[in-house]
Amino acid sequence: MWVACLAYALGRAGWVPSAWHGHFTDVWLLPAALPPVLWLHERLGWRRPGPPRTREVLAHLAGWSLLFEVIGPRFVSGVVGDPWDVAAYALGALVGLAWWRLLAAPITFDHLAPLYLWLEYVLAGNLLQRCRLHHITTLPTTGHVLVLGPGRGRFVLRLLRERPGLRVTLVDSSAGMLDRLRRDLQRAGVIDRARLVHADVTEWRPGRDTYDAVVSHFFLDCFDPPRLERVVHMVTGALRPDAPWLIADFTLPQPAWQRWRARAVHGLMYAFFHRIVGIPARRLTDPSPLLEQSGWRLQRRGAFNLGLLQSDVWQREAA
Ligand SMILES: C[S@@+](CC[C@H](N)C(=O)[O-])C[C@H]1O[C@@H](n2cnc3c(N)ncnc32)[C@H](O)[C@@H]1O
Repeated sequence: MWVACLAYALGRAGWVPSAWHGHFTDVWLLPAALPPVLWLHERLGWRRPGPPRTREVLAHLAGWSLLFEVIGPRFVSGVVGDPWDVAAYALGALVGLAWWRLLAAPITFDHLAPLYLWLEYVLAGNLLQRCRLHHITTLPTTGHVLVLGPGRGRFVLRLLRERPGLRVTLVDSSAGMLDRLRRDLQRAGVIDRARLVHADVTEWRPGRDTYDAVVSHFFLDCFDPPRLERVVHMVTGALRPDAPWLIADFTLPQPAWQRWRARAVHGLMYAFFHRIVGIPARRLTDPSPLLEQSGWRLQRRGAFNLGLLQSDVWQREAA
C-alpha cells in the first residue's frame, strides 16, 4: 500500500512524464486507497480481517469506475469520462491482486528449501557451519542420534561421513527440506543409516527408541516458551541418561553494545521468520532455564561472532 501511495503521490506531484501523467495516478489509485477503505470496513465489522479478496477488488473497481467515469461526468461540470481511466484502474487492480495473493499465501520452509544453502552462504558464509561443528567430537562414534529440524542437512552429512558407526533419525516438518536432504544423503551414499521422519516435533512421539545423543542446531529458536517446553520434555524422555544434547543457536550476549547489535539482528530475523514464514516464536527464548529445570546441565559452551551465536553441550545431572 505504501509503495502505491508513494507512486500515487509522485504522479500527483507531476514527477512522471506529462504524456501518461493522468493514467499513471489512476493505476495506483486502487492499490493505494483500497487497504484503508477495507481497514475501515474491518473496524466497522463489515468484513473479516485479511488481505483484500478478489471479489472485493472487482466490486470496488466496478464501483469506482461507475462513480468517477459515468456518474461524476454527468453531474460535475468539467469532468469527462474516459475509458482509458477504467483500463488504468483495472491495471492497478491486477497489480494489487498479484501483490495481495502473494501476501495471502505465506512463505514456508518448503519454499525456502531450494534457496536455503545459498541464503546461508550469502548472509553468513561459513559461520553457522563452524558453530554447528564446534562440538561434533563430543558425539558418540556408534549408536543412534536424533536430529531435530535438520533442514538442508549440512551438519548431518558431515556427521554421517565422519562417523560410519552412527545411525540418525531426522525429524523435520518441511517435506521440501526432507526431499532435498534425502537426495543429498543418497548421493553421499549414507542414506541407509538415516531415517527421515516428516513430523511436527511438538506433536511427535519418539516411540520406544532410546537415542544416544540429540542435536538441535538453529532449531529451538523457532519456538515460543510453551512449545519449547514440550520439545525439551519430549527429548528428555527419548534419550539415554548419559546422552549429550548439542545445541547451536542465536543468543543474547552480556556486554551492552554486543547485546544491542544482537537485538537488531534478532529483530530482522524474527520479522522475517515469524511474520513471513510463520514460525510460532516472536522473539528468542533462552532455553537454558527450561533445560536446567528438566535436569540438564551445561557442559561446554563456545561463543561466535561477538556472542551472537553459541554452541553448547548439555548433559543430564545424573550422568
Ligand atoms: C532455521 S531451520 C534450521 C535447519 C538446520 N538445523 C540448520 O542448522 O540449518 C529450522 C528447521 O526446522 C524445521 N522446523 C521448524 N519447526 C519445526 C517443527 N515444529 N517440527 C519439525 N521441524 C520444524 C524447519 O522445517 C527447518 O528445516
